[in-house]
Amino acid sequence: MSETAALINGKALADRVRQEVARDVARLRERTGVVPGLAVVLVGDDPASQVYVKNKQNASTAAGMTGETVRLPASASRGELFDVIDRFNADPSIHGILVQLPLPRGFDERSVIERIDPLKDVDGLHPTNAGLLAQGNPRFVPCTPLGVRELLIEARIATRGARAVVLGRSQLVGKPMALLLLQKGEGGDATVTVCHTGTRDAAAIAREAEILIVAMGRPECVTADWIKPGAVVIDVGIHRRTDGSLCGDVDFSGVSRVASKITPVPGGVGPMTVAMLLRNTLQAASLASGMSATREDD
Ligand code: GUN
Repeated sequence: MSETAALINGKALADRVRQEVARDVARLRERTGVVPGLAVVLVGDDPASQVYVKNKQNASTAAGMTGETVRLPASASRGELFDVIDRFNADPSIHGILVQLPLPRGFDERSVIERIDPLKDVDGLHPTNAGLLAQGNPRFVPCTPLGVRELLIEARIATRGARAVVLGRSQLVGKPMALLLLQKGEGGDATVTVCHTGTRDAAAIAREAEILIVAMGRPECVTADWIKPGAVVIDVGIHRRTDGSLCGDVDFSGVSRVASKITPVPGGVGPMTVAMLLRNTLQAASLASGMSATREDD
């Protein structure tokens, strides 16, 4: 007899977080007159990035924020992109700046991210914010791993002392995810292993995981034989199949027969990324207004 894993519903939690953020945006405005502003920059015409950027801007508007989206052609120069970032850095009505990644070939992502004022870096990618997280004193944390942590807490997954394996070591997901699981306190205190393209037999290591976070960027790569029976599986990937349907990095139908809990694609991690961006933008506006923001100090 095969059982089926329970679904971890990211869409439902994201909707709740977005309502909370909208309420707190209204409160901040009433108390200080400050309206959080989010600037989103998209370079090039990658179709998936266009959808993500539209979702982010629509969500920020729905939460009562202001903002602006700037679209530059893939042929834009580094100087043109820097000018846009500099303008937002200097604009007091903008509290959060997000440059959608990946940038078109030829752009040096590192120098672009470093150009963003770290106090407006709601993506948590600037070296100052990445360093604060690494030291256990986070300010802005990348939205996707932050959303995964929220999902684990909401689903009452005990992370303390758990064997957690992160598949993927990107700056955007894998690395900050591992650091969050390593933090002291709620959603942390796990024993963390990170696997990457240089790892020998990642499947064998994944099979030791009570909590498996998959952020490899390869469609349906993680199959049932990678999963410890009863494990919690979080799928960060999103890919479009040739028939137009969406899938994750995990072979959902096979893995859900072995895992105890699993995030679906779509409707799992994706909506949480947007919700956490709103939370980070509210936090940036609160910091700028001198109101105490929700801080995680340890
Ligand atoms: N591309 C995919 N996810 C993200 C994200 O969270 N932030 C940015 N800037 N680009 C992305």
